[in-house]
Amino acid sequence: MPWRQRCWSPGRKAPWHWPIVWQFRACSFPARVGSDLFAAPLCRTGWSMIDTLAGVSGDPVHWAISLVLVGIWLLICWLCLRKPAEQSIDKAECLVVFASQTGHAEDIARATHARIAAGGRPVQLLEADCLTPELLDAARKIFFILSTTGDGDAPDNARAFEQRVLSADADLSGKRVLLLGLGDRRYSDFCGFALRVWNWAERCGAQLRVPLVPVDDLAPADLARWDQHLGEEGYPPVPAAEDRGQSWQVIERKQVADAAFGPEGEQTSDGLYRLAIKPEAGGRPEWDIGDLFELETPDGHFRDYSIANLPGADELLLFVRRVVEGGVAGRGSGLLTSIEPAASNQAASNHAGSNFTGRIRQHRSFRPPAGQGSLLAVGAGSGWAGLRPHIAQAIAQGRRCWLVFGEREAGQAEQLFAEMREWHEDGRLQRLDLVLSRGGGPYVQTLLEDKAREVADFLDGEGCVVLCGRLAMGEASLAVLRASLGAEWLEQAQADGRLRHDFY
Ligand SMILES: Cc1cc2nc3c(=O)[nH]c(=O)nc-3n(C[C@H](O)[C@H](O)[C@H](O)COP(=O)(O)O)c2cc1C
Repeated sequence: MPWRQRCWSPGRKAPWHWPIVWQFRACSFPARVGSDLFAAPLCRTGWSMIDTLAGVSGDPVHWAISLVLVGIWLLICWLCLRKPAEQSIDKAECLVVFASQTGHAEDIARATHARIAAGGRPVQLLEADCLTPELLDAARKIFFILSTTGDGDAPDNARAFEQRVLSADADLSGKRVLLLGLGDRRYSDFCGFALRVWNWAERCGAQLRVPLVPVDDLAPADLARWDQHLGEEGYPPVPAAEDRGQSWQVIERKQVADAAFGPEGEQTSDGLYRLAIKPEAGGRPEWDIGDLFELETPDGHFRDYSIANLPGADELLLFVRRVVEGGVAGRGSGLLTSIEPAASNQAASNHAGSNFTGRIRQHRSFRPPAGQGSLLAVGAGSGWAGLRPHIAQAIAQGRRCWLVFGEREAGQAEQLFAEMREWHEDGRLQRLDLVLSRGGGPYVQTLLEDKAREVADFLDGEGCVVLCGRLAMGEASLAVLRASLGAEWLEQAQADGRLRHDFY
């Protein structure tokens, strides 16, 4: 995606004249070349209007009408031909900069922005990739809200920031900087990216009067410290605009894959479940492709699950791996998969313990890939949930789709495969490769490596890739694609929005 489009400041409306401008610009390929090509005909047309209207009579009314028409004409010409602004984000003395992979940091940044804006001071909210030296220069106070992904990596919307801004020294002297890092202590590089930004800010002479606020797995106590710092900065709490969730019920549950075991033979999962859930209060839930269902556990933890069906249905479809750690079922997955399905709304409300709290959460970095090219979908296990709506939409758009999907063993997973096979047999999927890893079988990344030539032909320049599943599978698959398609292809696809991934 071009910089200009991505860095349109969140919440800011496009100017009213954009439709006109783009109609003119759309006639040409590159906008600037198009504008230049238009220049001569536009000017000639304006001149001939004066010539025709005023020249046919010496009547002052005709002159006045012609001048008004020419004025309008000149305005349109100016809007079409002027150089696009280099910077579409206003400089502000206070910036709220976020980096977020699955949307939590973005939600907190929006709330922080709303809280500061409530005080009446100008404040700008922006993704880290949109932060330029000019914006930094103009700012007096900067609030960074940064999550860490991968293996201590920056989220996708902060990769350019890391390359462009963090690699160089800036003069941050006299600027007050506060930093909130979202992470999870189960990862070895806890809040790694936020720490790198912290070190950079310190090196550049920023005023860092409070230490980095690290948040472990969205722990309420950690978030409360951020709230407290905002209060001390003179921004009192404002009523939360956001709905923290509603009551939901499970209406269908089916096990679709067997238990899984780790390399040491320890059980890591009790199986994969296909669940249909709906709001207890009724009404049709609203979501977009890529969005997540966020479960709030009774002890205040949050767990995300990809929504596996296309928007427009009355219920959400989830594929939940029932995680087992040290013989104990996972907080979120254990809860969701143990709920008995309700036969009806009435039955559900009578069924003690059958309801749970959750909400739909936007996941902007996992929206359908841009463009109209062929779609290569790669995933394993519960990653099917993330891939499924992307594939369904691409099929509906008449795009060619190739699914490369892995599970541990056939067994109950045949039920999961049945749908994929059906889509393949009736021609919706051009190509389907199912791999089973148990007993030394190939992994999805091995298959991608073996079929490197065919993958390159299938994607043919403008193709798109969607990946979803465990981090190890995802990173290994990306590494294979980087080797076979070239780092440049992958970076371009990422920049164009033709590469989307959701790893966990
Ligand atoms: C694939 C993946 C990789 C992660 N890697 C790390 C990591 O290396 N270090 C860390 O502290 N947290 C890591 N996390 C935890 C996230 O930072 C944490 O869940 C955070 O709340 C996500 O915020 P976001 O939704 O704004 O991206 C990872 C999470 C995921 C899903």
